[in-house]
Amino acid sequence: MERPEIKTPLPGPKAQEILKEHRKYISPSYPKGPDLVFDRAEGVWIWDVDGNKFLDMLAGVAVNSTGHRHPEVLAAIEEALGRFLHVSTDFYHDLEVKLAKKLAEIFPREGDRQMVFFTNSGTESTEAGLKLARHHTGRQYFIAFEGSFHGRTFGSLSVTSSKNVHRGRFSPLVPGVFFIPYPNSYRPPFNASPEKATDQLLDYVEHVLFERIVPPEEVAAFVIEPIQGEGGYVMPLPDFFPKLRALADRYGILIIDDEVQAGLGRTGRWFAIEHWNTTPDIIGVAKGIASGLPMGAMIAKAEIMTWPRGAHANTFGGNPVAASAALKTLQLIEESLMENARVVGDYFLKRLKELQERYEEMGDVRGKGLMVGIEFVKDRETKEPYPEFRDRVVLELFNRGVVSLGCGPTSLRFSPPLTIGKEHVDVAVDLLDEALKATREALSR
Ligand SMILES: Cc1ncc(COP(=O)(O)O)c(C=O)c1O
Repeated sequence: MERPEIKTPLPGPKAQEILKEHRKYISPSYPKGPDLVFDRAEGVWIWDVDGNKFLDMLAGVAVNSTGHRHPEVLAAIEEALGRFLHVSTDFYHDLEVKLAKKLAEIFPREGDRQMVFFTNSGTESTEAGLKLARHHTGRQYFIAFEGSFHGRTFGSLSVTSSKNVHRGRFSPLVPGVFFIPYPNSYRPPFNASPEKATDQLLDYVEHVLFERIVPPEEVAAFVIEPIQGEGGYVMPLPDFFPKLRALADRYGILIIDDEVQAGLGRTGRWFAIEHWNTTPDIIGVAKGIASGLPMGAMIAKAEIMTWPRGAHANTFGGNPVAASAALKTLQLIEESLMENARVVGDYFLKRLKELQERYEEMGDVRGKGLMVGIEFVKDRETKEPYPEFRDRVVLELFNRGVVSLGCGPTSLRFSPPLTIGKEHVDVAVDLLDEALKATREALSR
């Protein structure tokens, strides 16, 4: 069985040199995980500059969806490179049309036509969705959710409320955003029982927010994450999204579904929102769409994409090399990786739940497909967060050659390449067991 191989203390000497220079020249604003300095990567494995080998259980946070350097994706990139590097959005090419058609087809809605606006990142997909919603509805307000993350440019930041370090000292943000609690299934809003929490939350929206604070006919859209990503891999209450859809329809409000982290096969469906049988009006994607090349898209029902020529555009959207990589990525996901995400994801959850029986600190183990999180708590009854434990587990895993990352106040996330097998899960879970033991020891000292 292939396993991680750690040969030096981490970070090793060559990594340390690069880290030193990085810290000198690169903006300190980037959040950072453990000190992993990449040399190369292949499939589910990463080698650092000191020759240490890691199992990638993160995929650059859901980006390397087909694994690192998938040969068919590389071939698609080379094919495009043989033709062009850039085609101005003032002109046309076949690859972006094919990709738009594919994205329109997989949009979770039958029969109607969808249209696509190409972007280069998640935040741009959010921006495009917010702008389209305002433009189409002629309404100004948005309702977003506490703990959500939609990006870091002004519009997307304005609907983000994941951590205040993202927002601090950047105000004034875009006005007209109201936040309501996320329908967190582990910590239901208003401390309500899980069976009643959705109704209570939507009752608050309808009878407090809409009657006293913001007239619903002035609300353009609800902005949702089907599963919160940066906020902690938080699963929604199962009845929430269908009921939100019904409420939105009553008032002509759109739903913008941010699938940047959860979308495109990762959860075992094209879009995570499909697990709750809900059809959004606008979807944002990015991250995993092109296996690692920068690309994103905002997909909307054609009857909503009514803005005129010139209303919104960009320079690089639909780049042909990225579009070629994306077409191949979606093909691979459709042929086998979405199913693999479902099967291996179920197995991963089962193995983690077994581990949870031995570790009280694993308050909640959750996920869909290969979007898997663990929320750490000091006490299962009170659910008191245990961030020091989580931070230490990430480090202990890294020291054993498994790449993961924290998210939310006290959670750990795994968003591996969709190509991983059960054998990789077994290695990750064995090493997690060791990491948990080591963390307990370290924190009890
Ligand atoms: C759900 C979600 N939306 C938007 C973004 C922003 O994406 P980007 O960093 O590509 O701008 C992220 C990034 O983590 C995300 O997880």
